[in-house]
Formats: sequence, C-alpha cells, structure tokens
Amino acid sequence: MEDRVRVFDTTLRDGEQSPGISLGVREKVEIAEQLQRLGVDVIEAGFPATSQGDFDAVSLIAGKLPETVVCALARANTGDIDRAWEAVAGAERPRIHTFVSTSDIHLEHQLRKSRDEVLEMTRESVARARSHCPDVEFSPMDATRSDPEYLYRVLRVAIENGAGVLNIPDTVGYAVPREFAELIRGIFENVEGIEGVTVSVHCHNDLGLAVANSLAALEVGARQVECAVNGLGERAGNASLEEIVMTLKVRNDRLGLCTGIDSTEISRTSRLVALLTGYPVQPNKAVVGKNAFAHESGIHQDGVLKERITYEIMDAASVGLVESHIVLGKHSGRHAFREQLERLGYYLEDEELNQAFTRFKELADKKGSLSGEDIEAIAVEYIRTEGQEWKLGGYEVHSGGSQAPPSATITLERGEEHVTERAIGDGMVDAACKAIRAALGIEARLCSFTVEAITEGLNSLGDVTIQLDVKGRRVVGRGVSTDIVEASARAYLNAVNKVLR
Ligand code: KIV
Ligand code: ZN
Repeated sequence: MEDRVRVFDTTLRDGEQSPGISLGVREKVEIAEQLQRLGVDVIEAGFPATSQGDFDAVSLIAGKLPETVVCALARANTGDIDRAWEAVAGAERPRIHTFVSTSDIHLEHQLRKSRDEVLEMTRESVARARSHCPDVEFSPMDATRSDPEYLYRVLRVAIENGAGVLNIPDTVGYAVPREFAELIRGIFENVEGIEGVTVSVHCHNDLGLAVANSLAALEVGARQVECAVNGLGERAGNASLEEIVMTLKVRNDRLGLCTGIDSTEISRTSRLVALLTGYPVQPNKAVVGKNAFAHESGIHQDGVLKERITYEIMDAASVGLVESHIVLGKHSGRHAFREQLERLGYYLEDEELNQAFTRFKELADKKGSLSGEDIEAIAVEYIRTEGQEWKLGGYEVHSGGSQAPPSATITLERGEEHVTERAIGDGMVDAACKAIRAALGIEARLCSFTVEAITEGLNSLGDVTIQLDVKGRRVVGRGVSTDIVEASARAYLNAVNKVLR
C-alpha cells in the first residue's frame, strides 16, 4: 500500500464554521494561497450554496490555485451540487464533496427520512456530481454512530455511482482510536470496490481525540486526512493539520507514512490563520503554541544547551520557527518595507503596498522601530480591513478624572462620507466603542475582549481581539496599534464591518 497521505485542508470550510469566524473573500484567498505554499493536496474552499460570499470566495480561489485540488461542499441535493460545480468549474483540478447523514439518530431526528430514501439520495447526488466533475468525494455524515452494515451499503452505492474518495467523518467526535480503526478496517473488508477508491477520514475533537483517531485510521489504510490549521472547526474543532503532519514526519520510523507538506511553512500558516480569524493559538498548543519550543525548568534548559535532542523531539526550524532579526524604523523606505514583507511571505499589489506603507510610517513614527512580527501584523491588518465599509478616520479620548467621566470622540469614514460621534463610558475603551455604535446605529453586546502584546517589551504593538454578539450572531474583530484605545476601536470597527458585510 502506498505510504503517501493526502492532506485535505478544511480551514476555509469547517474551520470557518467556528463560532465568530467570518472571513472576507480577500482573507480567504490569502489563506488559500498560503495553504498552496504549505503544500496541501486539497483545499475545501467553502460551501457555495450557503451564501453568495461563500460562492464568490470559492470561485475566486478556484481560479487562483493551479497546483491544488479545489473542493466545494454540497448537501446531497441537485441545487447544492449544481451550485458547487458552478463555483469550482474554473479550477485546474476541481472536486465536488457531497454528504448525507447515515446514522439513525440523524435520519430520525434531523432528516426525517428512511434508510432507503438516504440510499437513493446517495445514488442521485453522487451521480449528479459525477455528471459535472470527474473528482467526487462522498461523506456519510455521523458515520461513527451509524449501523456499520448500513454504512457499507451506502458506501457501495457511492462507489457504484462514481465517487473516487469516500470520507468517513466522526462528526460529533464520539469515537475512540481503536474503535475508529476497526470501523475503517471493516469498511476495507466489507465494501465492494473499495480497493479502487481513496478512503479519507474527518475527525472532530469533542473528546480531544481528533488527531489520535485520524492517525489510527491512517495506520489501517486510510490515505486522505481531513484537518484544519490550528485545529479550527465546529465546536471543539477538527483534527489539527500541524499535529498530524508533524506526527507523520517525526514518527515516520513507526508509522512509515509521509505527506507532501513543506513543514517549514507551518508556523507562518498558523500565524496567518490566527491573525485573520481572530482565534489566537493557546500558548501550550502542540507544534505551533508560543511555548512549544520553550524550556522553563533548569534541568531542561541545561539539557537543551548541551544537546538539543535531550528535550526536543523536533527542531523549531523544521516548522519554520526562526529568530526574526528584522527591524525597520521611521527612516526605512518603501523598498525595504516591501522586501521585508516578501521575506515574510506577503505579496501586496502596488496600491495595497502604498496603503500598508502609510500605516507602517504612522506606527514607526510612534514606536521608533518595528520588528518582523510588527510588520507582519501591519500586513495582516491591511488584508483584514481591505474592502471594509467603514474606516477609522480619527479619534480623541479623555480619561476624565474626579470631575468628568472618560469620553471619546470618534470619526468614521466611508468614502467621502464622515460621521463623528462623542460618547462617555466606564473607561476610554468603553467610550470609544459606544461612540462607534452611536455613529453606525448598531446594537452590539461585547462578549469578550483580550489584549496581547505582539512583541515583548513595553513599547510593543497592542493586538486587541473583540467578540461581539449582534442580534444573536457572534463576530470576531481584531485591531493593532501602539495605543490600546485605538487598537480597541479598530477591533470593534472590524467586527461591526463584518456584520454590515
Ligand atoms: O463533520 C462532518 O461530518 C462534516 C461533513 C460535511 C464531512 O463536516
Ligand atoms: Zn466536520
């Protein structure tokens, strides 16, 4: 059996279903291009039937990625499948991924369909997808809680109608590794025609077992693994791409499997996804957490100083973590700024570069010098806010004192239009957010607010992440500045703009 595992990335589809994440088209394209650089085999770019925005993003990505299979998700019905095809038809290597639930729990309580009806839906949807596209993937949703005998029948029908990839999802993260491996083994032993297709797995992390379950399935013959950068996805997320890839690489001695991933692109991909989605990476996260290569105890430090392999099973450089010595200051020119951006992997068009450079100058004037991380944060903020309806024109805040409450005056701009509002609040940040709300007439509840320093040191850029609830819908916004009030106003405006979008 071949030892090459195909990596199917679903950051832009299942990952985007994480509460609060709402990526714009430009942000999705930036992530997709980075995923291609990372070397994933398949990018699930979205679910075109769900919204015009998703459709547009999938179509745009389809036209931009020559090397990678671009896949669109569709429920098992004609409308979804035709829409998915419309979106990916322009890709060099298009794929339609269609799915229907197979567990009795879902059939009874959600679909309200009989087993025979679902078999028929499988037949019709796979055949329909196949009439458009030579590359069709089929998923029996909630497979791990389905009757295996029925599951085999559904999979057989999918193969007979032309599916080339059968993806087995642990939709609710219920399986444990040995059990999941047995399910996959059962599929290999009982589904006629299985030798001619690729078996894939898609595991959720509700019990923290998504990576372990995926690896167990690969050990018994699955050769495509679905995963997401930083483990993003519905609820507790999907299997984390970086953990699977690095396990296969570091433990090749035991597992004998490899991928086409360039692991040195992992850190950058993780940072880009965290910055654009507003979902920070926990410090102790395997492979990409801030502490993944940090040693605190004296014994460990002593060991690593003498010989790295005493306490490190992988080299930080193998995931692309290299010390950044980049420093630019207020006298640095556009050329140096562009060169540093490109070194960091950001390729902005001339007009975009001009605007990002203006912001760089503003910050360099205040902060003196900017590190590689600061420059990256500026580029990402530019991508994040490009096309944003309202921009922050200006602001003035007063901390108040014993005689007056804190207040903020904010000016927002939309093309030639300017709106200025003043508000008072519990603090300057609160006042600034209230002024934005008043200016745009939007009711929003603040659910969470975090401030992080981009680099170490007192003059670091502040990176604010805000989560808002607007009429029951969660949105995340992020903003960067030397000034926390400004960073907060930018983050707030970023979130509100997503609602308006
Ligand atoms: O978790 C799941 O079952 C899915 C399917 C659409 C593959 O995301
Ligand atoms: Zn899923």
